[in-house]
Amino acid sequence: MQSEVNRREFIRNSAIAGIGMAVLPSALSATGMKTKVRLGLIAVGRRGQVHVAELLNRTDVEIVAMADPDTQMMAKTRALISAAGKKLPAEYAKGNDDYRNLLKRDDVDAVLISSPWELHFEHCVESMRAGKPVGLEVGGGLTLQECRDYVQAYEQTRVPVMILENACYRRDLMAITNMVRKGLFGELLHLQGGYQHDMRARKFNNGTVPDTPGIEFGPGTPSTPGWRTQHSVNRNGDLYPTHSLGPLAVMLDINRGNRITALSSVATKSRGLHRYIMNNIPAGQKHRNADVQFKLGDIVTTTLQTANGETIVLTHDTSSPRPYNLGFRVQGTAGLWQESGGGEFADGLLYLEGASPAKKWESPSPHLQANDHSLWKVFGRQAESAGHGGMDFFILHAFIECIKQGKDFPLDVYDLATWHAITPLSETSIAQGGQLQLVPDFTNGAWQRRKPVFGLNSEY
Ligand SMILES: NC(=O)c1ccc[n+]([C@@H]2O[C@H](COP(=O)([O-])OP(=O)(O)OC[C@H]3O[C@@H](n4cnc5c(N)ncnc54)[C@H](O)[C@@H]3O)[C@@H](O)[C@H]2O)c1
Repeated sequence: MQSEVNRREFIRNSAIAGIGMAVLPSALSATGMKTKVRLGLIAVGRRGQVHVAELLNRTDVEIVAMADPDTQMMAKTRALISAAGKKLPAEYAKGNDDYRNLLKRDDVDAVLISSPWELHFEHCVESMRAGKPVGLEVGGGLTLQECRDYVQAYEQTRVPVMILENACYRRDLMAITNMVRKGLFGELLHLQGGYQHDMRARKFNNGTVPDTPGIEFGPGTPSTPGWRTQHSVNRNGDLYPTHSLGPLAVMLDINRGNRITALSSVATKSRGLHRYIMNNIPAGQKHRNADVQFKLGDIVTTTLQTANGETIVLTHDTSSPRPYNLGFRVQGTAGLWQESGGGEFADGLLYLEGASPAKKWESPSPHLQANDHSLWKVFGRQAESAGHGGMDFFILHAFIECIKQGKDFPLDVYDLATWHAITPLSETSIAQGGQLQLVPDFTNGAWQRRKPVFGLNSEY
């Protein structure tokens, strides 16, 4: 009898292995429909408060609890919620581990995590183990092992995580995704994007007040200079790949019919952050940060290869004076689009063989308008007031709607692992003089069977 049970168990497990863990539904699909989502917030700093402001506009969300050891950030968040006339959440501010008490609450349906990069893994996996679906803010992975462990935590718990890559919902990028899906660029060949954002004023402040001019950073400094800048001291790689890779991965069906197979990275010398410090030391004074050696090269360039024969070039450029522009380019066998601004339809150049005047650039605007995504047509007005040109509305909307409707998230743990892996692999590649690094297949072969799901309807 025992051996019969074991045999049946073995057959069942083998069958599951045959299906592939990456194509099994998550625990969300078993939860049924909800009309309201009760959220717990882990970390309510700068970004956490942007989420709160957006969530307060929704009638289908209740913020029941929030955890952050920074009492000033907690006070600011409390004030936001209070000003909106909403019920104040329970607070967990007693140190770095108090978020674990938030996770014990059975009135928390899901959590939103907006903590520093080095805490993402712990916060996310502890939440999954506590049975709470996760919306995880963006960043890059710390190690490749961590990326594998995200996947393992999901496959063991089936508690899903959505990487909150808001750039996937940028209006121009969604219109371009529509054009890609209609085949207007032909077969895709080469894509580019980057995090090209002068972050110098965000990497430093005066040491006591967030968003003030200064050259202080490190533990005890409020907000992002308290943690983010140390990554530039210790690491040389593409530290923030997902704002550009996310939307491009959607266009290329990465992990859903395609996958990233390998990368190589190179970096320039490091000058910008030191120069910024030197330019801002008050005349005649000395400052200890003048001696800090930053490891992060000012411009990091990473070339990715895909299973279906495309290349992607990602640029990380955060330490130099420059206007913001993510530098997207989407090129196929029949034409290309290059953007040059911050996401307006008219920013950039487009050429489609047969449709554009021969060998002449034209404005992308009419093409993007004609291919505006149905989500933007339905929710564009509602999204207008949200952060980052409306993208922040859509990312939270998708997260909340999936939980309400018991649907799998459109960006999942396999996307998280793949996108995060770019950071440690780029660090290794640079350390080895640009040596090629193989990118693991986190889906264990299921990428060949998984179907595209992002942006297929006008609901979320
Ligand atoms: N998607 C976007 O457009 C976007 C924009 C800005 C920031 N971000 C991301 O949001 C995240 C947070 O960035 P930020 O700018 O808000 O930084 P921040 O420093 O302002 O906020 C981080 C917060 O985490 C809190 N925290 C630290 N340890 C904690 C713990 N153990 N438990 C609970 N909370 C803890 C800090 O006290 C702080 O309030 C990062 O991953 C960043 O990359 C995303």
